[in-house]
Formats: sequence, C-alpha cells, structure tokens
Amino acid sequence: MSEFDPVKYKAMVKEHQEKDRPLAWFDSIYTDAKGDYRAVFWADLAPSPYLVSWLEKNPANKQRKKAVVIGCGLGDDAEALSSFGYDVTAFDISQEAINLCKGRYKDTKVNYVVENLFEYPAYWMTAYDVVYECNTIQVLPGKYRAQARDAMISLLKKSGKILVSCRSRKKGEQLDDIPLPLDKEEIDSFIECGLKEKSFVSYDDTQIPSVPHFFAVYEK
Ligand SMILES: C[S@@+](CC[C@H](N)C(=O)[O-])C[C@H]1O[C@@H](n2cnc3c(N)ncnc32)[C@H](O)[C@@H]1O
Repeated sequence: MSEFDPVKYKAMVKEHQEKDRPLAWFDSIYTDAKGDYRAVFWADLAPSPYLVSWLEKNPANKQRKKAVVIGCGLGDDAEALSSFGYDVTAFDISQEAINLCKGRYKDTKVNYVVENLFEYPAYWMTAYDVVYECNTIQVLPGKYRAQARDAMISLLKKSGKILVSCRSRKKGEQLDDIPLPLDKEEIDSFIECGLKEKSFVSYDDTQIPSVPHFFAVYEK
C-alpha cells in the first residue's frame, strides 16, 4: 500500500487476519508514510483529551510512578503521560513507529522501544502503576483480543490503573468492521478479570460522522 485507501486497507488487514498473521501488517502503515509522521492515517497527532483530563486529576507529582503505553504509535499519549511526571515506557511492535517517535521527540524522557505485547520482557510483569491502551485491542481479531487484555493486566502493579480508550459498538452490530470496536460486554471483561471499574465514559468523537467510543479506567 502506498496512498491510504480504506477499501484496500481493510482487504489487506482481512487477508492477514484470515491467514492468522494478525500482527504482520502494522509496520507497513508506518513505512508507507516514508518518514512523514503526518501521513500515518490513524494518528490524531495530539493526546487523547480524555487521557489529559484524567492526568490533570492524577499527575505523578513527585512520586516515581511508572506508566507503560501499549502500541504507542506516534507517541502523543506517551508524551502526555511524561509531561504529567510519569516515568514512561512506550512500546510498539512496529520498528518504524518507534523510529518516527524518536524523530519527533528528540529530547524526550520517554523510553520508546520495539516490543510485542504478547512477548514483553519478563521484568515488565506487575511493574507499572499505569497501563495505557488506546485502539490496540480493536485492531486485533478473535482470540488475540482477550490475550491482549490479559497481557495488559499482567503489566499492572497491585492497585495500578489501566486506562482503556477505544471505539465502541452495540452488541451484535458491525461484526465485520475493521477495526472491530469493543462492545460493552467485551470492555466489561476487564471487571470479570478481577479489576474494579473506577470510571466509565461512553462518548461520540468529533469526526464527521462521529464515531462512538469508550474511555474506561480500572484498578487492579
Ligand atoms: C490503531 S494503532 C493505535 C496507535 C496509538 N495507540 C494511537 O492511538 O494512535 C494500534 C497500534 O498497536 C500496535 N500494536 C499492535 N499489536 C501490537 C502488539 N502485539 N504489541 C505491540 N504493539 C502492537 C500497532 O503497531 C499500532 O501502532
């Protein structure tokens, strides 16, 4: 793929998913941008306002709190966490995404690394006060979604918080969508895994037409 074409994009993702290669295509989205981060079609190039609003109430202050950003893409949310005092590790399976982050934020305090959520370094387990997930579960198919949720939870310290930001859908609808938004039952599975819901927002974003989303915070 060179120029973004939603029909070709969905067909490309579907083909990988049908061949059970759900992670094989992510890097192409970033390499197709040819070094220009503005050409990455899914990036907002700004932190989530819901994350920023949460950070305003929950800064790290002078405590050394550790945060990890899953599938960090171009790093806007990781930089927001860092600017509120968190010691941030941000990872992505795409080498080129991480190259673009390092190019964008030359003086960053964020530790940007290439890693796979499903094979992260053992010392990361239960090491984080905050886990931030934005739009990664929704780009995975089938069994990988619950595996991703479980891997994210396993990164959390006791009493740590996980923030989940994603597209949403009504149960039984949009079943063939790519990305496949989460329905309420799927996001509530964080509670079934033993976490406590601290806040939950369902909202429509500012796109035209607007896209429904969830933003939820859970505590371990
Ligand atoms: C839809 S993008 C969202 C990027 C970013 N969080 C944002 O909101 O702009 C999903 C990101 O997750 C990354 N990703 C997917 N599966 C991953 C995995 N198993 N481990 C690490 N990163 C992954 C992709 O490379 C991609 O950058």
